[in-house]
Amino acid sequence: MKLAVAGTGYVGLVAGVCFAEKGHYVTCVDVDEEKVARMREGISPIYETGLEELLKKNLAAGRLFFTTDYESAYSDADAIFIGVGTPELPDGSANLTYIAAVCRQIAQSVTRDCLVVVKSTVPVGTNDKVEQFIRDNMERNVTVRVASNPEFLAQGNAVYDTLNATRIIIGTEDDVAKKMLLDIYAPFDLPIVSVSRRSAEMIKYACNNFLALKISYMNDIANLCELVGANIDDVAEGMRYDPRIGAKFLKAGVGYGGSCFPKDTKALTFLARQHGTQLKTVDAAVKINATQKTRLFEKAKKRLMTFESVKVAVLGLAFKPGTDDLREAPALDNVRLLLDHGADVVCYDPIAAANFHKLYPQVKMANSVEDTLEGAFCCFIFTEWEEFIRLTPETFRRKMRVPLVYDGRNIFDPEHMKRGGVEYYSIGR
Ligand code: UDX
Repeated sequence: MKLAVAGTGYVGLVAGVCFAEKGHYVTCVDVDEEKVARMREGISPIYETGLEELLKKNLAAGRLFFTTDYESAYSDADAIFIGVGTPELPDGSANLTYIAAVCRQIAQSVTRDCLVVVKSTVPVGTNDKVEQFIRDNMERNVTVRVASNPEFLAQGNAVYDTLNATRIIIGTEDDVAKKMLLDIYAPFDLPIVSVSRRSAEMIKYACNNFLALKISYMNDIANLCELVGANIDDVAEGMRYDPRIGAKFLKAGVGYGGSCFPKDTKALTFLARQHGTQLKTVDAAVKINATQKTRLFEKAKKRLMTFESVKVAVLGLAFKPGTDDLREAPALDNVRLLLDHGADVVCYDPIAAANFHKLYPQVKMANSVEDTLEGAFCCFIFTEWEEFIRLTPETFRRKMRVPLVYDGRNIFDPEHMKRGGVEYYSIGR
């Protein structure tokens, strides 16, 4: 089929490339000329395992195109997928400006009946508004159907998650729209859940909020474990065998970050308030996450007399391994606090360093773990990169002035670190 994708961020670009990989003809549209020029040369603007390879392959096969000319892309597409951002507004609600801009362009451009598919995470009821908005702005007498098809990919794993999705959610009450989406996804051979548009929109929020809640619950229990002498990792190990609980998202740490959980928890609680109710569980998860992020900093503050002029090593900046994304990363809040307290901060991240340097040009960046640790009085770990997991207590002891380590991702065995001469603090153990 002939598809167009609006937006070449994590959602749009990965969807576009994977649709092409499955045999569709896909034109990805973005407003950024420079980005489009690079993608045309086969360069991915984001770091995602396997993405650039598939991008190049499908460009060469003549199934994947990039353009800023939305009119040509939308005018005769069978389906147009919207994958633009819905960032958080100051009040916590989702900003739908980019969605509206794309809808206006669609209304101006389409020359034949087509399907508009909303992939972006949007508040319940948005698809109805999208349909109305396009109809109000339509310039020709054609039918545009609107369906919801939320995206569940996790960053770092985006291509795999898309090609091997656990399920495809199709949200529409329209048989023609449903049939088209079933055809588009047929080559993926994945389980399909077909529901109403509003339920599809809610499924996305319900999933992300549930996962955020699960993490915050584990962090809550972890903090209690510390007080009562239990070990959160052992507790999680004992929990994960229960299929009613599930084996994943039980890892305690310095809290969740990223482009989804922080934004989507706030957007859902906003939606609840808008409808005169309150999501008390999600509200609690948000609060827990906010304090969890700086829990180790607070501990270190008590342990050290001052941070003033103290060399502090920070290992890991990305909100999770496998990505260069820093959005809402716990490292950001902590580096800010360390700087405010006068610390001499040196940071290292194997992938996200360049992005971090743009946000914090005044912070020293090291090129290796060893250089970061050199002469430090204290080390924080905020991302569980593979190369950190392989470190031994000996490296911390040898390189640091004082081998004092605050591990926000529980990557080391506390006993092993202790035996190796490291003063080691982690979460819930
Ligand atoms: C998430 C959802 O997983 C995905 O389905 C949705 O489409 C977008 O949001 P993502 O933000 O890419 O994906 O990353 P994810 O792997 O879910 O991790 C989010 C945050 O939670 C990270 O900061 C991670 O470190 C943290 N996390 C995750 C934990 O603290 N503990 C866990 O057990 C799992």
